[in-house]
Amino acid sequence: MATSFAPDRSRVPGPSTWLPGGAFWAFRKDPLAFFTNTARTYGDIAGFSFGPQKVYLVSRPEWVEDILVKSAGKFAKGVALERAKVLLGNGLLTAAGQEHLKHRRMIQPLFHRQHVQGFAEAFVRHATAWRDQVTPGATLDITREMSGLTLGIIGETMFSSDVQGDADEVREALTDAVSNFAYAFIPGLNHLQKLPLPIFIKVRKARERLDRVIHRVIAERRHLAGTEVPALRTDLVAMLLAARDPENPNEGGMGDTQIRDEAMTIFLAGHETTANAMAWTWHLLGSAPEAEARLHEELATVLAGRIPTMDDVPKLEWTRAIISESMRLFPPAWTMGRRVLQDHALGSHTVEKDSLVILSQWVVHHDPRWWSEPEAFTPERWMAPTDRPKYAYFPFGGGTRVCIGEAFAWTEAILLLATIAQRWRFVRGEQPAPTTEPRITLRPKGLRMTAERRV
Ligand code: HEM
Repeated sequence: MATSFAPDRSRVPGPSTWLPGGAFWAFRKDPLAFFTNTARTYGDIAGFSFGPQKVYLVSRPEWVEDILVKSAGKFAKGVALERAKVLLGNGLLTAAGQEHLKHRRMIQPLFHRQHVQGFAEAFVRHATAWRDQVTPGATLDITREMSGLTLGIIGETMFSSDVQGDADEVREALTDAVSNFAYAFIPGLNHLQKLPLPIFIKVRKARERLDRVIHRVIAERRHLAGTEVPALRTDLVAMLLAARDPENPNEGGMGDTQIRDEAMTIFLAGHETTANAMAWTWHLLGSAPEAEARLHEELATVLAGRIPTMDDVPKLEWTRAIISESMRLFPPAWTMGRRVLQDHALGSHTVEKDSLVILSQWVVHHDPRWWSEPEAFTPERWMAPTDRPKYAYFPFGGGTRVCIGEAFAWTEAILLLATIAQRWRFVRGEQPAPTTEPRITLRPKGLRMTAERRV
């Protein structure tokens, strides 16, 4: 078995892995720069090692599609997500194979359009409440604010319960829980995690704290289940309790642990990503006065001062273009891993069984072959048809594991941006620019902006 000190015998060129300062350390230091430099230097497939783990960074849209869609059966979720089982248990994001397909069949109907339509009212109500409590001239930690807002929304749509009061608790616990992400590739981590080391104790405690919040809301939900509270008939926990496998309708529903795992998964997957998309969007708009003016114009024309509804979403084309462009430049899910289950050819290369394939939205979304002036914030590029390859843009992944919450997220982001931008704009002024914090999601760190009232 190769070690991190053995030469890399791969025929696929890539960065050195056996010198101190090699791939793993470069990745640890700055994962975005490491992936970008690797792809730009070695091309659409680059091979390297993280310790004994052979890794391929794949950056050609056609191959991204092949791995996620056409040949998806030859790939399984990557090691980092398996580590996430510590937190998420065996929910949709972490389940594999037939088990995943079964969960997916049961949960998919929860995210159909008619349900998202039902949630739209909650999106706007939370956005309105948020915009009402902002004071002119206040300097806000935008990432934190958006996280609190989307947490309140997922709390209500999931549990018909207000968990916004727990936002700080959940955010801190999440930060602790994801703090070991960069260590996810360390061989033997599963065993190491059982040791009483401070970092692992922190993660375990974080899970306990998150569990407490979730169990409390599930208990509230069960307590209210028999009552005539209309909202409870359509919330996600109610739907999870009622969900059956359409292929085996006589089989029972999900047990308590499964519901906890699915709830935790949707709870986490469903707020941090959208919060980051919103935060980056405010950051970008803050330095793009023309795009911002066009947004205000669209809101005035489509909404004429009233609060938006689900019916307005298809009409808010520029609003959508802004969000598309924001998720291109700062994809909240910036990288995805897949374990190779059997040897597979990508062009003239072979990725071998047990290697790890990394697809990075960050790399592909900034590739000058598909995006002219890739670093520029240009929502216009989304207003016209294009012949760029489909998987030059994949913020929600693809294939059978595509984000189940995609329609939910688009609707939420468009309605939040529209509702808040009707009233406020945010300026960075003399505040320092935020930095990118690539953890499980790509967070803007240190994004402080001052609220200016528009109307
Ligand atoms: C801007 C917002 C969002 C982004 C960028 C995003 C991105 C993604 C991506 C890239 C994946 C696929 C991961 C992989 O294949 O390895 C995924 C899966 C998933 N997402 Fe999202 N997501 C967002 C919002 C949401 C929301 C709002 C929910 C739920 C309310 C959600 C729930 C899930 C779940 C449950 C999965 C696992 C699906 C499966 O494996 O079958 N996401 N998301």
